[in-house]
Amino acid sequence: RAVSSVQKRFGFRQTNAPRLNFPIFGRGDWPREARKTRLFKNFNKEGGFFMDKKILMCEPKYFFKGKPHYQINDWMREKQPIDYQLAGRQWQNLYETYLCLRIKINLIEPKISLPDMCFTANCGLNLKNFFILSRFRKIERRKESFVFEKHFLKHYSDFKTIKLPKNEGMFFEGQGDIVKIDEKNLIIGYGKQRTSLTGANFIRETAEKLEISVKPVELLISGGKNKKSFYHLDTCLRFLPKTKTFLIYSPSFKKDDLKKLEKIGELIFLDYKEAEGLTANIVIHQNFAISGFLNDRIRKILEKGGYNPIYINLSEFKKAGGGAKCLTFEF
Ligand code: ARG
Repeated sequence: RAVSSVQKRFGFRQTNAPRLNFPIFGRGDWPREARKTRLFKNFNKEGGFFMDKKILMCEPKYFFKGKPHYQINDWMREKQPIDYQLAGRQWQNLYETYLCLRIKINLIEPKISLPDMCFTANCGLNLKNFFILSRFRKIERRKESFVFEKHFLKHYSDFKTIKLPKNEGMFFEGQGDIVKIDEKNLIIGYGKQRTSLTGANFIRETAEKLEISVKPVELLISGGKNKKSFYHLDTCLRFLPKTKTFLIYSPSFKKDDLKKLEKIGELIFLDYKEAEGLTANIVIHQNFAISGFLNDRIRKILEKGGYNPIYINLSEFKKAGGGAKCLTFEF
């Protein structure tokens, strides 16, 4: 049975390729309606490429132009001028890469006067059907919480928003200070820089009620000369689920905490240059690893672990202290 006009013209099948090589693009054996519905269902979890990942992004429409007008981390204190146009293109690149990987992308409307809003990872943390809203330590970013709270209320009725109690000194900066091991195990970073110990404890207690275990690790002040580069956990720690290993910049952690982490997975130590490239800020989707920094060593580590590394230049966001993971809130 010929199924396409090309096949009609040239005879039945033109190649010896196995029939279901490309189940989505190739004209499969399913009737049209069945194909349509399958498209939006995650019918093949392992290795399947349908939309089993949903993320939230925010276009950098009001991102910094030139030197950042406020400095809340040491990347910004270097006052390197940000090329606004280039930042837009780099973000677009990331966005389109996600599209190609069939990730479902939700967008939130950017707000003028909130240039850091594009770093959506910091808006909060989703635990099952709860959303714990962030409370930023930095005043410059505090208003973002209102915007994200409204967004979740309006668009995700299946999420119940939880707010941190109004205790003094209680801060939590969302997925930026979280590293996910699996659905039931998370690591939270706390310290003097962003998420506070009390914030981390609140998250741990809340998660416990949902039968999710959260292990706190203290984030030490670390970085190059007079530089505190690694202020969020996702800037210096990344778990690779396929190989159960961590990419880690060890000077950011206490010895005890390193031991705790070792029990979960083998540690692969990043040198300063790799860490400074925000290598730990990788986004992983199935067997793809999207990163703003790759060298031969990291590439090999990823490939050996079964990941296809995808490099995207995010230089302009780095000047504000963020990478691919920071630009992506993962549901
Ligand atoms: N300029 C932002 C800040 O300092 C960058 C946030 C980066 N996000 C992250 N998850 N590391 O808060």
